Amino acid sequence: MTVAISSVERVTSEALTGPPSQWLAQRLFAGFSWPAHVRYCRWLLAENPAARDGDHLPLYVFSDGGRPAGQLAIIPADLLLEGERVRAGWCVDFHVLPTHQRKGIGHELLRAAALDFPVLLALGETEASARLFRSCGWFDAGQQTVVTRPVSLTRVALDRLLRRPAAVKSRDCRGPAIITSIAALRRMGIDDWATRQTRAGVPRTAEFVLWRYLRCPGLTYVLWALESEGQTACLVWRRLPDRSGWRARILELICPPEAGVEQVRGWLRAGLRALRSRGCGVCELRATDPTVLAAFGAGMLARRSLATHLVYGRMDGRPVPRVPITQWSLTAGDCDVDAMEARRELS
Ligand SMILES: CC(C)(COP(=O)(O)OP(=O)(O)OC[C@H]1O[C@@H](n2cnc3c(N)ncnc32)[C@H](O)[C@@H]1OP(=O)(O)O)[C@@H](O)C(=O)NCCC(=O)NCCS
Repeated sequence: MTVAISSVERVTSEALTGPPSQWLAQRLFAGFSWPAHVRYCRWLLAENPAARDGDHLPLYVFSDGGRPAGQLAIIPADLLLEGERVRAGWCVDFHVLPTHQRKGIGHELLRAAALDFPVLLALGETEASARLFRSCGWFDAGQQTVVTRPVSLTRVALDRLLRRPAAVKSRDCRGPAIITSIAALRRMGIDDWATRQTRAGVPRTAEFVLWRYLRCPGLTYVLWALESEGQTACLVWRRLPDRSGWRARILELICPPEAGVEQVRGWLRAGLRALRSRGCGVCELRATDPTVLAAFGAGMLARRSLATHLVYGRMDGRPVPRVPITQWSLTAGDCDVDAMEARRELS
């Protein structure tokens, strides 16, 4: 069943795998297998914890003369903005066929999604999308910071000197406990932290983390329980190939919102130690939170750069609080869904 909103339809489960959706997906995601695309969409739209009562989240599809020409998916986010919870959504999988671009379709898709999600958020990843969001009057909160640092200085130096890829240790020392269940996440107190969060951001719940990381098709995330000052936090990371052998991309450190720099540093140090013992050469973190950045960014060889812009706004012209990026607690896990990589791994 589909529900029409001007020329944009909210495509529900039956239609998602139907011929029109397949026609569009094969043009937008050529090179990936259709089963991989369907699996990814099922995870994003049907298995998402925000999808309730057997229905799944809509995919907004613009059709031109009966033929789909563009699409937008939303990851719902229970956003905390200046102390208020707002129903918001991250714009993901946002594409218009090249033949149909610059005709207002992107704008129409956003307008349709805004009927369900009053505040929309996005990372303006391309020049076109960044301009589109700004042309809608959205607020540009600023850029996320990416910090890259060697995990083991001597090893990286030796590998460079000998021009060899970093060796991966076969023997793992006793490492942090790996979190694999929602029960383990709940035992850490994560649902309670979500209600105590004070800054702008997307509060984490055990249900969200389970879906986002432990059930994500195609991509493998590792969740470690780490100790600092008698308190447990959860470090989420992913392994990527790198010149130095492999690098760890830290998606986030989920911890009580009131944790200070020293405590966060304790968790990160424990995480870096464990990564080093596994042969990791370089570690990368993408965040907005000054506490996390201060705790991680030490070290002469750390490199800092700016990543994508966080933009957000409403489509009905009503104002939203303008909160600069330094007051947001956003992590790579919020929005970097690596959709293309998930499809590639599944194909
Ligand atoms: C981003 C995208 C979805 C925009 O869709 P669209 O239908 O072309 O957008 P619209 O026609 O509604 O554009 C509205 C406004 O956005 C801006 N804009 C859109 N595309 C632009 C481009 N290529 N260059 C500069 N400005 C652009 C313009 O201000 C435009 O208004 P104008 O045409 O009157 O100047 C489309 O370009 C696309 O699919 N890009 C490739 C994938 C992508 O970048 N996805 C977004 C990831 S976050």
